[in-house]
Amino acid sequence: MSRNAEALATIRARAGDAPVALGLILGSGLGHLAHAVDGVAIPYADLPGFPHVSVSGHNPHLHIGMLQGVRVAVFGAREHFYENGNAAAMRPALEVLKDLGAGSLLLTNAAGSMRPDIPPGDLMLLSDHINYNGRNPLIGEPTDGRFVPMADAHDPALRAALRASAKAEGIDLKEGVYAWYSGPSFETPAEIRMLKLLGADAVGMSTVPEVILARFLGLKVAAISTITNMAAGLSDEQISHDHTKAMAPLGATKLERILRHYLNTLR
Ligand code: HPA
Repeated sequence: MSRNAEALATIRARAGDAPVALGLILGSGLGHLAHAVDGVAIPYADLPGFPHVSVSGHNPHLHIGMLQGVRVAVFGAREHFYENGNAAAMRPALEVLKDLGAGSLLLTNAAGSMRPDIPPGDLMLLSDHINYNGRNPLIGEPTDGRFVPMADAHDPALRAALRASAKAEGIDLKEGVYAWYSGPSFETPAEIRMLKLLGADAVGMSTVPEVILARFLGLKVAAISTITNMAAGLSDEQISHDHTKAMAPLGATKLERILRHYLNTLR
């Protein structure tokens, strides 16, 4: 049995055969959202091909079950490029998500803002991204499928639906461009000035490879950043991973409300 087939069999044995509608990957400090799912939590360690997550504040379980009456697959954690230098680390997990029947993927992350009108505690819906890291998770993919078009990679209809849900919940959901910076060190103030010049509104260490993989697999995708800090040099606050983990819950409450509202519209 292939690695993915083994993971799929384990998931179906524990969570049942019903297809999932949507996948959700949770970013730093957002892992608790997974516990809102009424279903089962499967440790990544039981699922061949799923990442070995080494980042504190992340919850390495796949939660499958109902949220607002919709069957979802929630990834409590991701493997980042900076952990092992593997941009395709999430590929097997996303392939399994596709095999579970999901049509779309919602990504979340913690990010630093370069826009004064998107301060810490705010959310930013990604309108687009810049692969500033330059690595691509499809390097080595032998099929022509690797030539993935990336215009409208952040699905316009899904984004519109998320904006509508935010509006209905009275939440100010800004939109902007996310730049992927490798990490794990944070950026320098000079790098942030450069990223701003290049057209980025926020910076973070994830999400972009997953957007590319999701588009490759034919999943619709949208991503929301919880802004945990102003990017380096833009404020006096000290940036750290502890700060990220402490600040992420500020946005998490709003994110959960948007998500629940959106899921309600799918029923
Ligand atoms: N830079 C990169 N990643 C981040 C940041 C940041 O300022 N904040 C949270 N994740």
